[in-house]
Amino acid sequence: MLMKQAAAHLAPLTGLEQDEVLKLLEVPPQAEMGDAAFPCFTLAKSLKKAPTVIAAEIATGLQRVGLDASPAGPYVNIRFNREDLAKELLQELGHKAFGKLQLGAGARVVIDMSSPNIAKPFGIGHLRSTVIGAALYRLYNETGYTSVSVNHLGDWGTQFGKQIAAYKRWGNDEALQAEPIRTSLELYVRFHDDAENDPSLEMEARDWFRKLEQGDEEAQRLWAFFVEVSMKEFNRMYERLNVQFDHTLGESFYNDKMGTVVEELKGKGLLEESEGALVVRLEDENMPPCLIIKTDGTTIYPTRDLATAVYRHDVMKADKMLYVVGGEQKLHFRQVFAVLSRMGYAWSEICEHIPFGLMRFEGRKMSTRRGKVVFLQEVLDEAVARALQIIQEKNPNLPNSQEVAEAVGVGAIVFGDLRNNRLNDVDFSLEDAVSFEGETGPYVQYTHARINSVLAKAAEVERMENENHSEQANSINAAASAENKPVIVGDTSWALLKLLADYPQHLEKAILRNEPSVIAKYAIDVAQAFNRFYHAERIADASTDVKPFRVALTERTAERLAYSLYLLGVQAPERM
Ligand code: ARG
Repeated sequence: MLMKQAAAHLAPLTGLEQDEVLKLLEVPPQAEMGDAAFPCFTLAKSLKKAPTVIAAEIATGLQRVGLDASPAGPYVNIRFNREDLAKELLQELGHKAFGKLQLGAGARVVIDMSSPNIAKPFGIGHLRSTVIGAALYRLYNETGYTSVSVNHLGDWGTQFGKQIAAYKRWGNDEALQAEPIRTSLELYVRFHDDAENDPSLEMEARDWFRKLEQGDEEAQRLWAFFVEVSMKEFNRMYERLNVQFDHTLGESFYNDKMGTVVEELKGKGLLEESEGALVVRLEDENMPPCLIIKTDGTTIYPTRDLATAVYRHDVMKADKMLYVVGGEQKLHFRQVFAVLSRMGYAWSEICEHIPFGLMRFEGRKMSTRRGKVVFLQEVLDEAVARALQIIQEKNPNLPNSQEVAEAVGVGAIVFGDLRNNRLNDVDFSLEDAVSFEGETGPYVQYTHARINSVLAKAAEVERMENENHSEQANSINAAASAENKPVIVGDTSWALLKLLADYPQHLEKAILRNEPSVIAKYAIDVAQAFNRFYHAERIADASTDVKPFRVALTERTAERLAYSLYLLGVQAPERM
C-alpha cells in the first residue's frame, strides 16, 4: 500500500509505468535509511545519464511534491510521513475486506491430502500431508478459490491381501477392535517375517487381493472390518488436529471406475504388454513405463490414480488439482500426469504434485516393515504433557490449563511442521517445538495471549481514568486527542504497522508458491515486531495523545496473529 503511493509519485519522474516502478522498489537494508529505496541503474541507459545523477534529480522532484526523499549513490531513499500515514493505515487494517485477495475467481481446487493407508500407522508423512493440505485448503479459500479437500485413503491394493492372509492365520478380533492400528501392524510385521521362510504366504495374499477385487463376500467383509476400525482411530487424530474433509474417498472407490480407464487406454493404443503385465511406455517423456495391470491381472496404484484424476475432473469439476504427497512419489505423479496427457486430456496441466521433504522425530525414522514406528498419537500426547508443564510453571492459576495445553501442544507440532519450507527435510525436536521462545507456535500463541492481557489492562486504566475525571473535562480531552493532537509514531510501532500492512503480499506469496511456511514466518515476524514495540513503547499507560493509536495498533496485531494461526490450523488461546 505504501509502496504503491511511492510508485505513484515516482512514475511521472521516471517515465515508467507504476507497475514497473513497484517491481523495482526495494526496502532499504536498514530502517534508518527510510521506508523505500528506488534504484536508478535501469534508467541509466534510456536517460543516458549516470545513475547517481538520475537519483539526485528524482530526489529533488520528490521533494518538490512534499516527500522526504534523499539521494544515496545510485538510490533514492524515501521516508514516508508516519503521522499522516498511520491513521490511514490503521483504518485500512480495520476493514473487513483487508487481506482478502481475489486470485482464484471462484475456481475449484481439489486438494488430495492426508491419504493414509488403512491398517497401518498414521505416519509422519501423512501428518505432514494433513497439516500442509489443511493450511493450503484455508489459504485457497481465502484468496477467491473454492477449496475441496479429499482424503484419498489407501484402502485398496495387495497390502489388503496380506492383511487378510495374516488375519486368517493369527487374527484376534478383540485386539483388533481395541487397538486396530497396533494390532494390524503386528500382523503386518509377522506376515513379512514369516514370508521370508514361507513363500506360500505371499501366494495366499495375492489370492486374497484378487478375490477382493472380484467381489468375494468373505474378502469384502474382512476388508470392510479393517477399514472401519482403522477409520475410528484416524478420526480421533483428525479431531485433535481439527481437520475436516469434504470427501473421504479411498482408492477402493475407484474399483468400478478403473475398467473404463483401462479400456480407454487400450482403445487409444497406449497399452503394451511387458513381461506379462500391461504398461504405458513413457520413453518419449524420459520415464520408465507406467504399470497399469500386473501379471496376475490386478490393478495397481497408478491405475487407481488415473481413474481418480478423471473423476475429479469430470464429476468434481476441478479447475485445479493438488496432490499433497511426499517427494518420494515424484516419479509416480509425473508418470500419472504424463499418461493423462497421452490419453489426450489437455487438462492434465491442471494437476500438480505438491511434494514435501522427510521428517524425522528426534532422529527416528519411519519403518513400517520392521515395526519401528513413531505413533502420532504418542507424539501429540508428549507435546501436550510438555506444554502443560510449562504452562503450570508460568501461570499456575490458569483455570483451563488442560485445554490450553492441548491447544499449545498440538499447535506446537502443527506449527513446528509448517514453519519449514515444505521441501526441506526436517529433524523435528519436540523440546524446541514446544518452547515458548524462539520461532515456535507457542511463542506466537503466547504473544497473542500477552496482547490480550495488555488490552485488558488498557481498558482497565481507561475505566479508572474515567472515574477520576469529571465528565466535562473528559469529553474535552477525548475530542482533543481525536482531532488535534498528533499521533506520535515511534520506530517500533512504525515497523509493526508496516508489517501488518504488508500482510496481503505475504498471503499472495504463500498461494503462488503453495507454501504455508510463508504465513508461519510472517506470524513469527509479527510476534517479534510486537514484542519489540511492547518493550520500547508504553501501551496501557501511555499518555493520552498516543494511547489511542498504540491501543488500536495492538488490537490489529492480535487480530492478525490469531488469523495467521487460524490459517495454519493452530488455535490461539485467549490466555496462557
Ligand atoms: N496412500 C498413499 C501413501 O500413503 C498416498 C496417496 C496420495 N494420493 C494419491 N492420489 N496418490 O503412500
